[in-house]
Amino acid sequence: AQKGGYEHFMLKEIFEQPTVIGQTLNVYYNAATGRVAMPALPFKLADITHVTIVACGTSYYAGLVARYWLESLARISVDIDVASEFRYREPVMKKGGLTIVISQSGETADTLAALRYAKSAGQHTLAIVNAPESSMSHEAEATLYTHAGPEIGVASTKAFTTQLTVLACFALALAEAHDTMDEAEMARLTHALAEVPARVSEVLHHSEAIEKLAAKIQHATDMLFIGRGTSYAIAHEAALKMKEISYIHAEAYAAGEMKHSPIALIDEAVPIIAITPHDKLFEKTASNIQEAAARGGRIVVFSDAAGIAQL
Ligand code: BG6
Repeated sequence: AQKGGYEHFMLKEIFEQPTVIGQTLNVYYNAATGRVAMPALPFKLADITHVTIVACGTSYYAGLVARYWLESLARISVDIDVASEFRYREPVMKKGGLTIVISQSGETADTLAALRYAKSAGQHTLAIVNAPESSMSHEAEATLYTHAGPEIGVASTKAFTTQLTVLACFALALAEAHDTMDEAEMARLTHALAEVPARVSEVLHHSEAIEKLAAKIQHATDMLFIGRGTSYAIAHEAALKMKEISYIHAEAYAAGEMKHSPIALIDEAVPIIAITPHDKLFEKTASNIQEAAARGGRIVVFSDAAGIAQL
């Protein structure tokens, strides 16, 4: 593996995302029909009525995003836990459910133990894995590979976004099997999915602006990441990255929970990083941002054009 002119592997892998998300979509999305296309699976998607997601670290946060998608799009109940808790808490599992383990390496010991537990509890099992020929892909009933290529950086980047790509396709396939979405909504979402590589490229074009912004808050010793819905899950992943890469203490909060204590921490020394695309929860998060600003917090907002225009 070569750094290809980048300062370090993590940066190289961040910039590989449009390509590897595209590669992954090529496998699970049929551009000709405009529909998601799952490979043959040893269980029927229409029979799956409950999903349990288990993973560690960044892979767990990909699962946390997917929980929202599976519930809202396919109307399937979802449990989720970190593998190091799940494997020891003797969870009660109804037979016939589907357990999804998510792992870049396919070897993380706690996730592998969780997979074995789920199998022994009569669950169908599906591994979402990046590394080919891993223990999890051998032991799970089925594997959906992410096509991120080797991830050398210890902090996961492109593996995370390709996990999300596979999980989004899987959620849409489940929705189709359960007939929970109308044609127009399905078409809107598959079209949006196909656009993701181009949209990620656009974001990466802002890298200089992002660097300047980071410089403004680089001396903070604590940060709060807030969001609602899938952005709450992303806030968790962002806080994990901040700790792992910058050694800055960071915490994620559901934006609606701010008033239940973290708001007391807000002053100009603790930047608030709000993740809030212009979705159905935007107005709610915007009002949390205003509350934080009223307490003198320095706010950094990650949104889209429609969101920024309204703030
Ligand atoms: C951690 C890595 O140690 O393991 C994370 O730093 C990763 O980036 C986590 O998400 C879980 O690994 P895996 O291979 O099971 O996804």
